[in-house]
Amino acid sequence: MIRFAAVADLQYGDLDETIGRTYRDSIQKFLISAGEISRADIEFAMNFGDAWQSDWSNALAVRELFHVSEKYAGITWRHVLGNHDFHVEKDKKSEVYGLLGLEKPGYYDFLVADPEDAKNRWRFVVLNGNEISEYASETKEERERAKAERERWRRTDADNKLPAEWNGSLSQTQLDWVERTLSEADANGENVAVCSHFPLYAQSKTLDSPRTKLASLVNLDVFYFRLGISTWNGSDLLEILDRHACVKAYLAGHLHEGSYGVRNNVAHVTFKGVVETPKNCYAFVELHKNAIVVDGRLAQPSYRHEFE
Ligand SMILES: [Fe+2]
Repeated sequence: MIRFAAVADLQYGDLDETIGRTYRDSIQKFLISAGEISRADIEFAMNFGDAWQSDWSNALAVRELFHVSEKYAGITWRHVLGNHDFHVEKDKKSEVYGLLGLEKPGYYDFLVADPEDAKNRWRFVVLNGNEISEYASETKEERERAKAERERWRRTDADNKLPAEWNGSLSQTQLDWVERTLSEADANGENVAVCSHFPLYAQSKTLDSPRTKLASLVNLDVFYFRLGISTWNGSDLLEILDRHACVKAYLAGHLHEGSYGVRNNVAHVTFKGVVETPKNCYAFVELHKNAIVVDGRLAQPSYRHEFE
């Protein structure tokens, strides 16, 4: 079995609490979960993005947390870029990638093989849903491109509103790379876990928020891109995922209340956000040849999805 840890939306900031988000508490929560993660037998830990709320000084503080837990507790971190990660001073935006050990454009993949089962091989396809966005733009050209892309995704079904500016979009180059990488994984008999900051899908009965109580009475398909919670071109991404049988999991953060759903044989897990979960939350994820198991800790629910 392959096992890794998952943490989402620390959103640390030296800031007073707003809308139920206790930014300062994230340091203590991180240290508690990192202590538990360091004692577990895992391959790596995945940060699903929004590790800080804003400002370079907070980003540097979180980098120290990752650094200390790597150096002294032996945790290997992998990072997914979130929208808040780019809410830093203009001249620091280009340094966000490097601070997390990444290179622009910030998407990548890697393979993990099960030491006990040669047939159990999982490719992680890590997306950058902020690639085209105003908040991550470093130049006038990038900003203009983001404006045009946002305009292209005007929500004709919702008063013709522009999609939320705090989400972004994947470039055609990134979508082509996803298509290519999934085709190779199909050919190689690998399972794939797609990791993004932005969720795509949930079943409404799993939504855990007072705002969604009514929706959870019946079980509806929730497509986050239709609600303006996902990347602007989330529908294009879902179309690509639908074409590839290798995709078994889509793992995300961003929506702090978390959610779950199985669609087209793919387990869609949105991890709860640490900053807005008083009890703290993290998860261990087990990957088997024919199953994915989310072993949620504290406020994070557990899930199990078996597939052919
Ligand atoms: Fe986010």
